[in-house]
Amino acid sequence: MALRKLDAQALSAALAREQARFAETHPRSRAAFAAGQQHYLYGAPSHWMRRWAGGFPLAVKSARGARVQCVDGFERVDFCLGDTGAMCGHAHPAITQAVAAQLDRGATLMLPTEDAAWVGDELTRRFGLPYWGFTTSATDANRAVIRIARMITGRAKVLVFDGCYHGAVEEAHVALDAEGRVVLRNGIHANATDHARVSKVVPFNDVAALRAALEAGDVACVLAEPFMTNFGMIEPLPGFIAELRRLTSETGTLLVLDETHTFSSGPGGITGRDQLQPDFLVVGKAVGGGVPVGLYGTSAAVAERLWQQVPKVNPATVRQSAHLGFGGTLAGSALQVAAVRAVLAQVLTAPAFAHMTRLAEALAVRSREVIAAHRLPWCVVQLGSRLETMFVADPPRNGADFRRSRDDTLEALLHVYFMNRGVLITPFHCMLLVCPATTEADTDRYVEVLREFCAELCASCGVEA
Ligand SMILES: Cc1ncc(COP(=O)(O)O)c(C=O)c1O
Repeated sequence: MALRKLDAQALSAALAREQARFAETHPRSRAAFAAGQQHYLYGAPSHWMRRWAGGFPLAVKSARGARVQCVDGFERVDFCLGDTGAMCGHAHPAITQAVAAQLDRGATLMLPTEDAAWVGDELTRRFGLPYWGFTTSATDANRAVIRIARMITGRAKVLVFDGCYHGAVEEAHVALDAEGRVVLRNGIHANATDHARVSKVVPFNDVAALRAALEAGDVACVLAEPFMTNFGMIEPLPGFIAELRRLTSETGTLLVLDETHTFSSGPGGITGRDQLQPDFLVVGKAVGGGVPVGLYGTSAAVAERLWQQVPKVNPATVRQSAHLGFGGTLAGSALQVAAVRAVLAQVLTAPAFAHMTRLAEALAVRSREVIAAHRLPWCVVQLGSRLETMFVADPPRNGADFRRSRDDTLEALLHVYFMNRGVLITPFHCMLLVCPATTEADTDRYVEVLREFCAELCASCGVEA
């Protein structure tokens, strides 16, 4: 059966209609954003917040579990969950209590608390790596491991995969253009960095390109998600991650797995699930339950190499040599450690992941059924509690595949359409995340709106192929 095409002009008209409806029904949010223009560079405390497709972000009144209420009086099912920062669900009582109790005992001291030992044990149990450090964001954790990788290998370059996102990490602001040349991502400013000197980019799932890039022996580390989640969702082909590990080891390159998003796959991320053995692992966002936390873990072998340069414990020299060039004043604070303990002990537990994955799996199956019934050339990819709709019939294998599938108007339309009907989706692409508080009724609502959306789209924008 032929798949349907969508007419670009009709899509733009539908988007304008949905944006007008959103503006009309959200005067207070619109006014809050207008007021924000007086004081914030991009109208809101973070420039990312201006990216919502309605033209302005919702102003939030409160959020609890998987629901968000805006100041205009609407409640929505939240599948955005703070772009993963709220994967625990909003205002989880265990986190609220632990954080409030720690605030009451002292938030940040430049001294550890006894919670640190419990958290260290649990991180090692889940992810397998023996040594850990705290930062205040996943971005910072990535920067820290890149720095360590350079210190111990003496090499300058960082290799990333085309379509990656690892936070505000200079070396990862690169992509491949249509001719396969390395370019700055989305025209991002070069920031006085010679990216040709510090970065290499290869397509995901391309073993030959990876081998060729590593053979020169000038790459300090590969920084990779074990399942790409920031440019659509791109699954590794069978054997790709094993090859990545083999080739990095063979060439003396360190392997960093950034599990900030793929933590959605289960209690120990993909590393724990598949017993992977990276040299470093990074996790952030959800692990702090709303308190800003990044974590990096490393192997015993890497730690030994680091200690050769900066001794582990040596009170006589610690004063001169302690400056590692990363880490912040509030990194590893008592507040962060208490929050992570609450998250790992009471919220993102194995039973919680089982519930989240079951709901996300069912949501993916039902979404695919709706899409197929309307003969739309779209696919849905799911990993644990995360899923994504992409406007291409077959799941992409790399960044170039995903780039070809992009339709900015359709993507914006989908976001505003769902927002106008009580459902929030991550604004940057069509990604949904399920949290422990998400219910079947919440997922039913999504499927109901998707059915309406597809039917309306086919009626107003559909062209027989
Ligand atoms: C895989 C990955 N790593 C790192 C980051 C950076 O996280 P943060 O912005 O919290 O520093 C992100 C953010 O989206 C991410 O997706």
